[in-house]
Amino acid sequence: MVAVVGTRHVALSKRLGADRVVNYEAEDFTAIREKFDVVFDAVGKTSFFHCRPLLKADGIFAATDLGPGWSNILLSAWFGLTGSKRVQIPFPKDAPGFVRHLAKLMTTGQFQGVFDRRYPLDDIVEAFQYVEKGQKTGIVVLNVT
Ligand SMILES: NC(=O)c1ccc[n+]([C@@H]2O[C@H](COP(=O)([O-])OP(=O)(O)OC[C@H]3O[C@@H](n4cnc5c(N)ncnc54)[C@H](OP(=O)(O)O)[C@@H]3O)[C@@H](O)[C@H]2O)c1
Repeated sequence: MVAVVGTRHVALSKRLGADRVVNYEAEDFTAIREKFDVVFDAVGKTSFFHCRPLLKADGIFAATDLGPGWSNILLSAWFGLTGSKRVQIPFPKDAPGFVRHLAKLMTTGQFQGVFDRRYPLDDIVEAFQYVEKGQKTGIVVLNVT
């Protein structure tokens, strides 16, 4: 697995188990001379067309974001019509089941969550302001007690 991150997250990505880390501030990740089964844009910073050279013939581009000009939505619908899964915005079909699965992976140490800051509910405005900076590392938690 290859992780693409900025300088400040190189060590974290290695610690989390990436086989190789590409620092996007130092090199162009699309210039890697390798083909992948899946390219996953977890932060909404790239596009299918930008990443296409990295995909195997049956490789999948998945994203958490709508994409520039809603392109991820449009492309996933287009490829879906042809029976292809080339572009996907994955949603769990069974959300409670997925959360239980994630909890199990975290309990057994197979998945490590990355938690940034925690805020009490009363400080929700401050929490949103921090998240909106686009600088958070992993998850920001609101404590609802
Ligand atoms: N969070 C959610 O619950 C959620 C749910 C659905 C969809 N989304 C979508 O997911 C996307 C990410 O949202 P988010 O709230 O999780 O994160 P975010 O706060 O927007 O992402 C910040 C992270 O992105 C990294 N980053 C910035 N530019 C990058 C680049 N060119 N390549 C690789 N990493 C880069 C930053 O690290 P560096 O500073 O080191 O670059 C930082 O750790 C958004 O487009 C959002 O619409 C999020």
